[in-house]
Amino acid sequence: MARARRRRRARVGPKRGLSVRRGTARDAAVICELIRGLARYERLERQCVIGPAAVRRHGFGRRPYFETLICRRDGQPIGLALYFFTYSTFLGQPTLYLEDLFVLPEARGAGAGRALLRALARLALRRGCGRMEWAVLDWNTPSIRFYRRLGAGLRKEWILTRLTGAPLRRLARAGS
Ligand SMILES: CC(C)(COP(=O)(O)OP(=O)(O)OC[C@H]1O[C@@H](n2cnc3c(N)ncnc32)[C@H](O)[C@@H]1OP(=O)(O)O)[C@@H](O)C(=O)NCCC(=O)NCCS
Repeated sequence: MARARRRRRARVGPKRGLSVRRGTARDAAVICELIRGLARYERLERQCVIGPAAVRRHGFGRRPYFETLICRRDGQPIGLALYFFTYSTFLGQPTLYLEDLFVLPEARGAGAGRALLRALARLALRRGCGRMEWAVLDWNTPSIRFYRRLGAGLRKEWILTRLTGAPLRRLARAGS
């Protein structure tokens, strides 16, 4: 098992035709497709309404809300990492928050996911981050195993808290 893993790792990199580069506005449709692929995998496709125009506007507009890395194999896009920066007040350092990580099903197990995370780790350190953080669905055991092997810790005591739709509007409207 460990030997097979080492063998797989040894094939990762330029030899396998993998490249990881920042996404540009021209990649908006590709980014959108990969986001949709992740939503499908997470069985949340109905919630995924993003289109290329929103990607262009929010990723590459005047005030970018996110950045992307795209992994290509032999020039073809096969994987995406979409991330942005938050801030850890306790550490007094920025955090690289990974919103989406996805590799096309037919391209998995060839090192693209690891290559994307490695590129993100380098970026995080270059930009002075104290940590990288992301959420994973509790049933996504292959990914959880992968993250644990990288040395990531799972923080089950934190509960994701979300205010959206009508309750969000109601709170915004409420008088003081
Ligand atoms: C998680 C994911 C991004 C990993 O990408 P990947 O390109 O398959 O990953 P790699 O080839 O770099 O392999 C990473 C590890 O995952 C394991 N792995 C995951 N899926 C695999 C598959 N289908 N086939 C073989 N190995 C797989 C590998 O053994 C490898 O472990 P190792 O590095 O310790 O040997 C990818 O499987 C994916 O897109 N999954 C569906 C979406 C998802 O779960 N996204 C993350 C949400 S939090």
